[in-house]
Amino acid sequence: MRKNIVAGNWKMNTTLQEGVKLAEEVNNALKEVKPNCDVIICVPFTHLASINNVISKGLGLGAENCADHKSGAYTGEVSAPMVASTGAKYVILGHSERRQYYGETAATLREKVALALENDLTPIFCIGEVLEEREADKHFDVVKSQIVDGLFNLSAEEFSKIILAYEPVWAIGTGKTATADQAEEMHAHIRNVIAEKYGQDVAQGTSILYGGSCKPSNAKELFAKPDVDGGLIGGASLKCADFMGIVNAF
Ligand code: 13P
Repeated sequence: MRKNIVAGNWKMNTTLQEGVKLAEEVNNALKEVKPNCDVIICVPFTHLASINNVISKGLGLGAENCADHKSGAYTGEVSAPMVASTGAKYVILGHSERRQYYGETAATLREKVALALENDLTPIFCIGEVLEEREADKHFDVVKSQIVDGLFNLSAEEFSKIILAYEPVWAIGTGKTATADQAEEMHAHIRNVIAEKYGQDVAQGTSILYGGSCKPSNAKELFAKPDVDGGLIGGASLKCADFMGIVNAF
């Protein structure tokens, strides 16, 4: 069966010292509670190796991106093998902020996904519509295209290693969460899209996380939905108590 997962996406926040401290706090808090889900923190590249040294097995570590090339003359980029060499096991790919501000396309994302998998990194692949697309009733088609174009070149075996995160762009950092029903409706659609291509077994085994203004106060209702397998948490992952409040919603 698929896993329940709560993953933090720290985005471009915290200095190295602040980040190590926050990771230690989360790591200690997890020892007290024995969570009913997998817990992952995705942190800036600069923090990965240091944080890997201070966390226990019960807390997963990921990057927020990786390059679309293995190595070479790509000044400023960080490759999937580099991320893996820090001890990280996950990588967020295709976040809407990267699609929007850094021009990431489906073609780039296919390269990144392939390199992540080759290096034993589990991609947390983000999809989601902008407000105009929802208002024009195109959100189901938009999300389907993002999955088809970014991932459907994979074999069933490769696809079963992917974690998906549905993040409606209008809900990210806005305080405006999708309702639990809106999330469930889209997650069920996503699972159908997967089932059409790879069959029910793969679809039922895929964890689909919700992201967008998820907080301790709304996590329980969202996670109670049958197709919502957890959350990808931005702002609320930067405070240990808030993040743990979401972890404890399971
Ligand atoms: P917020 O939780 O801050 O809305 O961010 C969600 C997100 O983008 C996680 O990747």
